[in-house]
Amino acid sequence: PARAVAAMADQDPKSLKDLNAIIARTEPLVPGATQAVLGEGPIGATVAFVGEQPGDQEDLKGRPFIGPAGQLLTRAMAEAGIDREASYLTNAVKHFKFTLRGKRRIHEKPTAGEVSHYRWWLDRELDFVAPKLVVALGATAVLALTGKSIPITRSRGPFRFDRLDNRFQGYITVHPSYLLRLPDEAKEEAYAAFLEDLKRVAALGAE
Ligand code: URA
Repeated sequence: PARAVAAMADQDPKSLKDLNAIIARTEPLVPGATQAVLGEGPIGATVAFVGEQPGDQEDLKGRPFIGPAGQLLTRAMAEAGIDREASYLTNAVKHFKFTLRGKRRIHEKPTAGEVSHYRWWLDRELDFVAPKLVVALGATAVLALTGKSIPITRSRGPFRFDRLDNRFQGYITVHPSYLLRLPDEAKEEAYAAFLEDLKRVAALGAE
């Protein structure tokens, strides 16, 4: 991976389009993914959301946050008054990693090494998009943006991402797939807390 990262850094993309072309033609670190899922949204978006890695649907369609977790995020964004189309959505890791269970492709969490392999891309991407605020959705995004494993429960809220050198304000919240995995009786409260986070994000973006 160290050599791969050096090779990435040698590529020196001059624009987001250049960078995306590089990402799109690079083989996944772990074989299996259909395609790289690129970030989506306008350059200069006020808010950039960073997830973990594409899921099954994202991998098939080539777009971030369109499966069940993405739909939940999109709904919460709308309720918080954040326009998805005006926001930038991306992932710490650009390829879907899974294990097969029968015909089902079950999401497998990326390792710290994989997150670090993809980090150079994420960093360049955020340079080009230059959002005001970067929102980490869950622990993998936090790891990509800080280099540390930080429990979400303790760091939730406004946060400084060391690796971004204060270029952008940061904010930490849970990943929407966490909400989907909760037992039914816990879902409502957890969703409300997630919505509160997104409302704070909207307010910070509007400042
Ligand atoms: N989960 C993520 O982290 N990213 C996606 O694009 C979809 C699900």
